[in-house]
Amino acid sequence: MIKFKFYIIFSLLIFSLGETVHAGSEINELKVINLQTEELSMIMTVGKDSTVYFQYFGRKIDDASPYLDKQTYRRIDYGTDPHGYLAAGGRSYREPALRVTHSDGDLNTELAYVTHQQKELTDNNVVQTIITLQDKKLPLVVELIITAYVKENVFTQRVNIINKQNKSVVLHNFYSSYLPIRAKKYYLNSFHGAWAQEMFIEESLLNHGIKSIENKMGVRTTHTENPSFILSLDMPLNENVGDVIGGALAWSGNYKLNFEIDEFDILNITAGINPYASEYRLAPNETFHAPEMIYTYSTSGAGGVSRNLHDWARGYQVYDAQTIRPTLLNSWEGAYFTFNEQTITDMIDDAANMGLEMFVLDDGWFGNKYPRSSSTQGLGDWQVTQDKLPRGIDYLADYAINKGIKFGIWIEPEMVNPKSELAEDHPEWIVKADGRPVPTTRGQWLLDLTNPEVQDFVFEVFDDVMKQSDNISYIKWDANRHVQSVGSAQLTADAQSHFWIKYIQGLYSVYERIRDKYPNILIQACSSGGGRIDYGALKYHQEVWTSDNTDARSRIFIQYGTNMIYPALVTGSHVSAVPNHQTGNITPLKFRFDMAMSGRFGMELQPKDLSEKERAFAKEAIENYNRIRDIIMEGDLYRIISPYEGKGLYAIMYVSKNKKRAVVFDYCFEYQGRTRNSQSIKLKGLNPELDYKVTELNVEKSGFWGNKKVFSGEYLINEGINPQLQKIYDSAVFILEAE
Ligand code: DGJ
Repeated sequence: MIKFKFYIIFSLLIFSLGETVHAGSEINELKVINLQTEELSMIMTVGKDSTVYFQYFGRKIDDASPYLDKQTYRRIDYGTDPHGYLAAGGRSYREPALRVTHSDGDLNTELAYVTHQQKELTDNNVVQTIITLQDKKLPLVVELIITAYVKENVFTQRVNIINKQNKSVVLHNFYSSYLPIRAKKYYLNSFHGAWAQEMFIEESLLNHGIKSIENKMGVRTTHTENPSFILSLDMPLNENVGDVIGGALAWSGNYKLNFEIDEFDILNITAGINPYASEYRLAPNETFHAPEMIYTYSTSGAGGVSRNLHDWARGYQVYDAQTIRPTLLNSWEGAYFTFNEQTITDMIDDAANMGLEMFVLDDGWFGNKYPRSSSTQGLGDWQVTQDKLPRGIDYLADYAINKGIKFGIWIEPEMVNPKSELAEDHPEWIVKADGRPVPTTRGQWLLDLTNPEVQDFVFEVFDDVMKQSDNISYIKWDANRHVQSVGSAQLTADAQSHFWIKYIQGLYSVYERIRDKYPNILIQACSSGGGRIDYGALKYHQEVWTSDNTDARSRIFIQYGTNMIYPALVTGSHVSAVPNHQTGNITPLKFRFDMAMSGRFGMELQPKDLSEKERAFAKEAIENYNRIRDIIMEGDLYRIISPYEGKGLYAIMYVSKNKKRAVVFDYCFEYQGRTRNSQSIKLKGLNPELDYKVTELNVEKSGFWGNKKVFSGEYLINEGINPQLQKIYDSAVFILEAE
C-alpha cells in the first residue's frame, strides 16, 4: 500500500483547520481536500505551486490520496489542468470564472491557496468548506465556499470576492462556480420555452466549443430558459440509470451557465450571474457576493437527480417547505378585471362550498384616479377602488374567514403604468436611459429597485396591503415585464453597469425585510406565470405560479419539466375553464382535475359556470386531493412514462418517505388505438415486501379491474397496473396504501 507521509488528507468527516501560507509561495505539504456526502466526493488538491486543482466530482472515493501523485501527462506550461476556481490570466485561457482588471491595470489574476476551513453548520448533515485564495501579486481575495448536504447528496458552491487593494478593481466575470467534468460524451438537458410554454426539455450532445444557457432580461428571466440543467454522462439521459449531474443557480436576475469542452475533452462548467454589460467596480474593502450554484450527482439517472434536488430544496432552500400549502380558488381566469364585491363574495362562497381552503383576489382591485379596469392603468396606486369594492379588502378577508377559508391578494409592486398617480409623482423612479424613449411592455414600466427609495416604496406597498386586514394569509407577487432601455437615474454614469445586479440585490433586500416582519405569510412568486422560477426566489417564496398556461394538456409538459428541478409543492397548478384563454383545447373536467392534482392544487375559473354535476365532482376531487396532498408535497417523485416518448402517454407517481403510501397519475393525451391501451405501467419506489391496496380516485365507478384489490409491492414493481386509457384525455389517479 502506498504511504503518503508528507500529505495531509482532509475529509468532511473530520473537522479541520488548514494552516495559512503566504499567497504564491511554494508549499511544503501537498494537500487533498475531499469533500463528501453520503454517496459523492468532490476532490481538490493544492499543488506545489500553491494552485488549487479541481480533481474530481462523482461517486464517492474515500481514499483520495492518489490524487496527490496523479499524473495527467499534460504539459504543465500549457496551464491546462483544471483549477478549483478558474481565473483569467497567467497561463489560463479557458472561459474564466473570474476576470478582473486590477487597480494598477493588470489583467491577470493567479489564485493561490491561502487556507481552508471546514465547519458543520446546522447539524452534521451540512458541512461548509471555505477555501481562501489570493492573487499571487495583488491583494484580491476569493473565498470559495462549498457546502455539502450529506444525506441529500448536494453540493452548493459560491464565492466572495474581496478587494483589498487601495483602489477599485473592475470585475468582468464573477461566476459562482467552476466545475470541470470528465466523461466520454456529455448530453446536456436544458429547459427552454416562452411565456405560457415554460420548461420544455431539449437534449443536445455537446461538442467542442461553448454552449451557454443564459438570460439578459433582468426581470422575468425564466420563460425562455431556466438557470438549471441535467447533464447525462456518456449516454443520453435516462430516467432510471446512468451517471447524471443536476445543476441550478439560486439567482433571479441575468444568469449564464457555460459548458465548454476543451481540447482534452474535459467539460468546463462555469455558472453564475451573467457578466453581460455588468462590469462591476469593486471599491477597496468591498466584497462581491456571488449567488449559490447547486449541484447534485446521481447514478440513477434523471430520477435520482430530481429526488436529490427536491429533498435538498424542501430541507434547505424553499421558504417554509414544511407547511402544507392550502388549496385555493384564484379570481383571475374567472373574473379578470370585471368584478364587484358581489362577484368576489360569491366566488368565496363557491370556493368554501367546494371545500377549497383559500380564496385569492387577483389583479383589478386597486386605483381610484385611474381605476385598474384593464392592464393599461392604475398599476402603482395600491389603494382599493372605492366604486368596485366599497367595503374594502378588510370586508372581503373577513367574509372569507367567516366562511371558513383563508384570503389572499395579488400585487405587482415592482411595476407602474404610465397612467397612474405613482408615475406622475415619481418619474425618477422609472427604469430608463436618459434621453431615450421609455418603452412599455404590457402597458407598464419597471421601477428602479437599485434605488433605496424605491426599495422602501416596494416594502411599504407590501406592508400597507397587509395592514388592510389581519386576515390576509397569502400574497401573489407578480412581475409582468422585463428590463428594456436599461438605465437608472440614481446610479452614477460609471455605475450604470451595476444595474442588473443591484436590481436583484434590491429586490432580495426587500424580500428580507418582508420576511423579517411577515415570516408566516404565504408568498407566491409569479412573473407572467413562470418568469421567476429559480432557487433564489424560492428562498423567500413558498411557491411559484408555474405558468399562465392552465390548459391541462400543456401542463403535462410544463410541469414535467419544472418538476425535474423544482419539487411539486412549489408548483401552483390550477383547474381552469375550457376552452381557456391560452390554447383552446377542450379537455374534460376530470382530466383537468387529475392534472392539477399533481402539483399544489387550485382552481381558476368562475365556479358559477360549472353545472351541479361538475361541482359535485369538484367537491369530491378536492376531498381526494386532501387525502393525497402530503404524499405529493413530501414524497419522492418517480416518473413512469415521459410525455416526450411520443406515445401520447404520461405517468408519474409520488411515494411517501416510509413507502407506505403512494399516488399514481396516469394520462393519455393521444388516441391509443387498440394496441397500447392495455400495457401495464410498472410502478417504482415501492417496498417490494409490502402489500398495497390500489384505489382509483376521481371516478364514480372505476374501469380498472384491480380497483380496491391488494397487490404485493413485488407485483406492482415488476408487472405494474394497466388502467385502460385509450381515448384522448382519458386519465386515472390511484392511491396505494400499504395494508
Ligand atoms: C400575470 C399572471 O401570471 C396572471 O396569473 C395574473 O395574475 C395576471 N398577471 C394579472 O394581471
